[in-house]
Amino acid sequence: MDNRLTILNISNESRYTIKLVHKELRKISEYFLGSSDLERALVIVDQKVHLYHRDLIENTLGKIFKYLSSYIVPSGEKSKNLSQFSSLLHWVLEQPIERNTPFIVIGGGVVGDLGGFVAASALRGLPLYHVPTTLLAMVDSSIGGKTGINHSTGKNLIGSFYQPSGVFADTHFLSTLDQKEWTNGLSEIVKYAFIQDRGIFTILEKLFTQNHDYEPSKWLDVIYRSAQIKSEIVAVDALEKGRREFLNFGHTFGHAIENIADYGTFSHGEAIFAGMYAAILTSNEFLHAKIDPNLILQYASRYNFSLACLRYLIPDLIEQMKRDKKAQQSHIRLILLQDIEAPVVYTVENENRLTAIWKQTIETFS
Ligand SMILES: NC(=O)c1ccc[n+]([C@@H]2O[C@H](COP(=O)([O-])OP(=O)(O)OC[C@H]3O[C@@H](n4cnc5c(N)ncnc54)[C@H](O)[C@@H]3O)[C@@H](O)[C@H]2O)c1
Repeated sequence: MDNRLTILNISNESRYTIKLVHKELRKISEYFLGSSDLERALVIVDQKVHLYHRDLIENTLGKIFKYLSSYIVPSGEKSKNLSQFSSLLHWVLEQPIERNTPFIVIGGGVVGDLGGFVAASALRGLPLYHVPTTLLAMVDSSIGGKTGINHSTGKNLIGSFYQPSGVFADTHFLSTLDQKEWTNGLSEIVKYAFIQDRGIFTILEKLFTQNHDYEPSKWLDVIYRSAQIKSEIVAVDALEKGRREFLNFGHTFGHAIENIADYGTFSHGEAIFAGMYAAILTSNEFLHAKIDPNLILQYASRYNFSLACLRYLIPDLIEQMKRDKKAQQSHIRLILLQDIEAPVVYTVENENRLTAIWKQTIETFS
């Protein structure tokens, strides 16, 4: 069976392997070869993943470690909060752990971000292994070391950069994923196509015309290409001081949608999808790029959301964009495209120009 491997080298700081397999979770043991003193592992699992894959996880890890201490995290974004962080941290510190006890996080981006932050904090850092189980986590959140939780004042406002010791993705987990979650991951994959690899459009077209929309083994190729793009970008800019910003294509618009509509109204993937459309319109308008909006709209029928509730909230959306973490001196900073595969950072001097872009975006998705 297919086995893909990419090594992420973060300059002088850390180096870890990202492995992608299909139905071969047992190969995670390769990460622990030669570590004879590893008796115990902490295993942090998303609730739904636990429900569907408990036996697989326990049988596989049970063969590698003598003792497993497992903690189940309730599913959903609400778990990325201070109280869940505190409960998990307490639990970790009550376990008989040492500084080299592996901390294995199995789930989507929520459990990955929360667990990663706990791993970074306990004993000033336990060796963290991500086992991403959503499409989004496989192509994006498990790679690159961003960890954290939300605060009542905003999303992802508490956290740290903490690189894992390894990432092990088995596409078999995707067999139980809801269609909506596939679509969430699709948004990030399409983002990679726009900012770095137009070949991804072709792979997606092939998957969809051959009706492989939800067939995990068929997605190995596109997951691998996406994960590689993310790793290459993180390798040269782990702390997001330069190129890593390009990964925010569509995100400043998207975060504004998520925030103004109240978190939970739109999923991250839906908001980013609409956000990329807005970013394409902006690129065409502000930079005179000639990007065909149909490149994004061709996937619109896969999504099922309406932005109509935002029709009278355009000033709030623009205000929210100014508050985005990426804004500088309250000027909106956007990632736009001069062309496909040619992203640039653009500072908006006159944000009123964004009103028409928002109008068109909301109309298109109403
Ligand atoms: N750290 C980063 O660089 C980064 C990047 C992008 C997004 N994120 C964060 O990731 C989060 C979103 O991640 P997500 O989309 O994976 O959401 P998620 O973790 O909430 O997972 C989505 C849903 O799928 C379920 N699930 C997970 N794996 C499953 C499986 N194999 N089978 C069935 N159900 C499964 C979960 O229980 C949940 O209900 C957000 O909090 C976002 O901020 C982080």
